[in-house]
Amino acid sequence: MKKKRVEDSTTIISQVMMPTDANNQGFVHGGNILKLVDQAAGVCAMRHSESMCVTAAIDAVHFIEPIKLGELVTLKASVNYVGHTSMEIGVRIESEDLKTRKVRHTNSCYLTMVAIDNKGKPKKVPKLECVSKEQMKRCKRAEMRRKIKLKELKEIKKSLKKN
Ligand SMILES: CC(C)(COP(=O)(O)OP(=O)(O)OC[C@H]1O[C@@H](n2cnc3c(N)ncnc32)[C@H](O)[C@@H]1OP(=O)(O)O)[C@@H](O)C(=O)NCCC(=O)NCCS
Repeated sequence: MKKKRVEDSTTIISQVMMPTDANNQGFVHGGNILKLVDQAAGVCAMRHSESMCVTAAIDAVHFIEPIKLGELVTLKASVNYVGHTSMEIGVRIESEDLKTRKVRHTNSCYLTMVAIDNKGKPKKVPKLECVSKEQMKRCKRAEMRRKIKLKELKEIKKSLKKN
């Protein structure tokens, strides 16, 4: 399987926040942002793996600053790390006030996406070729997060078996 670069699958999605996305104070619902995050990460993972993908995990998401009605939300998704069948996708979220053109980096998060075959079983994905120092740094950090996540997953599976 031919190795792929981060740039081969980087995905950018932009959407203007409409009244149906916000509460009556004009603040966008966190769930709407999460849906866009999942979409951007999904497209990025599908581009890398050239197959169907499912979301296995979404890391903690902190909403530090509100996103307001009428703002343009842009999500940039890229592959940080590739395992055998899973990929860690990092998503950066920015919001632009279209009147002032001020852009704020509101939050970032990480998702684990798994490539699946037509029976829903995990399938192998191409390796990631990191070419810059920044990409190598991101890959190392993602590998560390993966270790922690898999430990947590083991605990979760154990507790589910008890119930
Ligand atoms: C994700 C899923 C396909 C994994 O299937 P599985 O039989 O558990 O397969 P495995 O244990 O071999 O895991 C496959 C890979 O995913 C990783 N993985 C699975 N669950 C994970 C989790 N919660 N967090 C991080 N990584 C996870 C494994 O480490 C493995 O990685 P690797 O192949 O790169 O080493 C399965 O759990 C599933 O279908 N989940 C539901 C997905 C879903 O419905 N998502 C929402 C809608 S898209």
